[in-house]
Amino acid sequence: MGRTSKDKRDIFYRLAKEQGWRARSAFKLLQVDEEFHILDGVQRAVDLCAAPGSWSQVLSRRLVENCPDGQTKPKIVAVDLQAMAPLAGVVQLQGDITKEATANEIIGEFEGEKADLVVCDGAPDVTGQHDADEFAQAQLLLAALNITTHVLRPGGNFVAKIFRGKDITLLYSQLRIFFTSVTCAKPRSSRNSSIEAFIVCQNYTPPEGYVPSMANPLLDLDYDALGVNALTGPARFIVPFVACGDLSGWDADQTYALDLDTYQRLDPVQPPTMPPYKSAVERKRGGNTGEARERL
Ligand SMILES: C[S@@+](CC[C@H](N)C(=O)[O-])C[C@H]1O[C@@H](n2cnc3c(N)ncnc32)[C@H](O)[C@@H]1O
Repeated sequence: MGRTSKDKRDIFYRLAKEQGWRARSAFKLLQVDEEFHILDGVQRAVDLCAAPGSWSQVLSRRLVENCPDGQTKPKIVAVDLQAMAPLAGVVQLQGDITKEATANEIIGEFEGEKADLVVCDGAPDVTGQHDADEFAQAQLLLAALNITTHVLRPGGNFVAKIFRGKDITLLYSQLRIFFTSVTCAKPRSSRNSSIEAFIVCQNYTPPEGYVPSMANPLLDLDYDALGVNALTGPARFIVPFVACGDLSGWDADQTYALDLDTYQRLDPVQPPTMPPYKSAVERKRGGNTGEARERL
């Protein structure tokens, strides 16, 4: 692949570099916000599965705007399995959100205060086996929801990536227990060819007497045994599906030609901190190409 081919192919990849975002994902959160205003007034937020950090960048820019008096300090806690390059004003934790220890660390960061917003753009490494990928994604989302029940204030919002697979009805039903409004959003910057979408859960209202538990009671349910997909009539909750972002604007599935006479290729805003190819590149630079090839 040539140095410019990715830039030609993906308009949001190119725009992200031009506008200083670490990843094209920034536009997904911005477009969800355009439609749902989930960042309005937010002063404390959790960014789950945050690396390389473009959602944290969006949060930090907006949360600073939301605290103009300088008295109240915005608080952003970002978590990922991967190390993330530092971002001013963002507390970073490295860990697995499905593990209790990580969840407790996040909860501890808030010292009893509550967050206004929890976002989760988590995605497991996709295997290509759709059922397995959807299951892993759903487990990640439920781990995020579990953490959310501990840190989100009543009335707060939760936004998370989902894969719209065959078992999605159960997820919708579980989310509706905790939020009065649940909508499935597809930002313009998310490719149509991807089953990815974002679930926008508004107005956190846990059932009366609900006590959050880190025992993960939401996980490991047998969807088929529960018969949730067979629900019909009023028992089946149909989640509204909303496209967001300027529908006459850039299209993630379209190819935009570059004017190569004037085009300037930009470096990534934040190069990967620990890319798996790093050691191979170092060995090659050191002239040890034979050994590098052997080990690879
Ligand atoms: C699409 S990326 C997130 C991009 C990010 N929102 C941004 O704007 O830069 C998905 C992230 O999910 C993280 N992830 C996957 N499983 C995780 C887990 N169990 N715990 C924490 N992070 C996880 C991956 O390490 C990856 O960085």
